[in-house]
Parts: sequence; structure tokens; C-alpha cells
Amino acid sequence: MDDIEKNYADFISTVSHELRTPLTSIRGFSQTMLTSWNKLDDESKKHFVKIIEDQSNRLIHLVENMLSVTKMQTTGGNFVFNEFDIKSPIEQIISVVRTQYPSHKFEFLYANTTAGIFADKDKFQQVMTNLIENSAKYAVENSKTTIKTFMENNNVVIQVSNIGIGIEEKDYDKIFTKFARLDNPLTRKVQGSGLGLFITKNLVEKMYGEITVKSEPLEDMQNYSKITFTVSFPVKNIEEQARIKCNQ
Ligand SMILES: Nc1ncnc2c1ncn2[C@@H]1O[C@H](COP(=O)(O)OP(=O)(O)OP(=O)(O)O)[C@@H](O)[C@H]1O
Ligand SMILES: [Mg+2]
Repeated sequence: MDDIEKNYADFISTVSHELRTPLTSIRGFSQTMLTSWNKLDDESKKHFVKIIEDQSNRLIHLVENMLSVTKMQTTGGNFVFNEFDIKSPIEQIISVVRTQYPSHKFEFLYANTTAGIFADKDKFQQVMTNLIENSAKYAVENSKTTIKTFMENNNVVIQVSNIGIGIEEKDYDKIFTKFARLDNPLTRKVQGSGLGLFITKNLVEKMYGEITVKSEPLEDMQNYSKITFTVSFPVKNIEEQARIKCNQ
């Protein structure tokens, strides 16, 4: 087998495993309900249907993420570049994620000097959704996500930070790879396909940006760290914008 075939075989084997787990659970709970309907009380039935719903959502999320990966790798993703301000797209994402995590707090610190970025708006929103969702999903209960934007060396910088279980330096690169999830209690508690940050990094880099992560232990909260994802986009002048548009 050559490298491409091996990569493909590995991908298919991981995907099949990821699909099989929720499907097995959906089949198991449906079969139990069909064969034991009269023996089950309403509470158990409701509980089983809830599991089926959760697992179906997990499958949909997984399939959507896998389609994103395939699209990026085949068509390149069809990017439509434009210059736009990032304040209102970020505000929109925060309000959507807020409804999914009602007890989590969000703080948005937008520097008025923040320039517009030259990127694909939908893809930028996908990037921010993944980062802001993660920051609420892997946070300590009742904590706060801080989203900060500012300028640095002619780059528009966006930082998303939360308090959670620290990421070891040896895992800084790993979390951006396909299907990578860390083995810690806050990750085990929630579902995920491990594709979010892989997609995010790919999208950021295709829009000429960079993404890094840093985890700093907190002195006043033992066992927890402040985790910060930093995304930066270089400001593009008119000539550079024209060149990118021509190459699209
Ligand atoms: N903000 C964060 N704080 C702490 N850990 C994080 C954070 N974001 C990501 N991680 C860790 O990195 C792993 C990879 O994240 P990624 O977004 O790629 O996958 P996922 O959230 O598990 O699944 P998906 O995004 O596909 O639903 C997570 O499983 C988690 O262990
Ligand atoms: Mg994620």
C-alpha cells in the first residue's frame, strides 16, 4: 500500500468506528423499546428516546464535519474573499453559542482600532463558531469565555480564552489533527468528533492566517489553566487583495 492508500484506509477505518458507536447505540435502544414496550415505564421510554436523539445529533454533527473535511480536500473549499469588519460576525456567533450554553458567560473586548480582514465571511464564522463553542464546551462550570480583538504588527488578532483542563505543550500540535481528542474528565463528559480544530486550522491557513494555542496554569485555581487560542490575519493591501481574487 502506498502512503495515499494507507491514509485513506486509516481514514475509512476511523470514520467507520466513529459512525458505528452512535449507530449501535441507536439500534440497541430502539430494539429494547420495540421488544419490551409494555414492560417499560414512561420515564424509561423518555430516557431511551433522549439517548436516540442525542446519538442522532452526534451522527449529524460528525457527517457535517466529515463533509467539511472532504470539501476542503477535494474542491479546496471554494473560498470567496472579501474585506469585512469582524465585530458583528463575532457578536452573532456569541449570541448563537450563548443559547447553547446558557449558564456560561461571554465577554467580548473589541478594540476600535481592529482593521477589517480579507477572508471568506462564512468560513470565518465557521472558525469562530468552532473556537467559541469549544471554549464553552471545555470550560469549568460557571466560568467565562473572553474574546478579544486587537492589532499587532499589521495583523488582526483574535484571542479566545477559557478556563479548563490545561493542554500539555506536547499536545499543542496534536489537537489540530484529525479525530484528536484529549483524554481528560472535561473532554470525556462531552461529545465531539475531534474534527473541529483540524477544520479550523485548515480554514484559517487557506485564508492566509495562523492559529496557535497556549495553556497557562492558574495560581488561584489548582488543576485548571487558562487556555487561549490565538488567530491572526495579516492586513492585505489593495494589490494583494486583487492578486488573491485573481487566483481564486
Ligand atoms: N477551549 C478548549 N479548552 C480546553 N480543551 C480544548 C479546547 N478546545 C479544544 N480542546 C481539546 O482539544 C480537543 C480537540 O478539539 P476539536 O474541536 O478538534 O474536537 P472536539 O471538540 O472534540 O470535536 P468537534 O469539534 O469535532 O465536535 C478536544 O477534544 C479537547 O480535548
Ligand atoms: Mg470542537
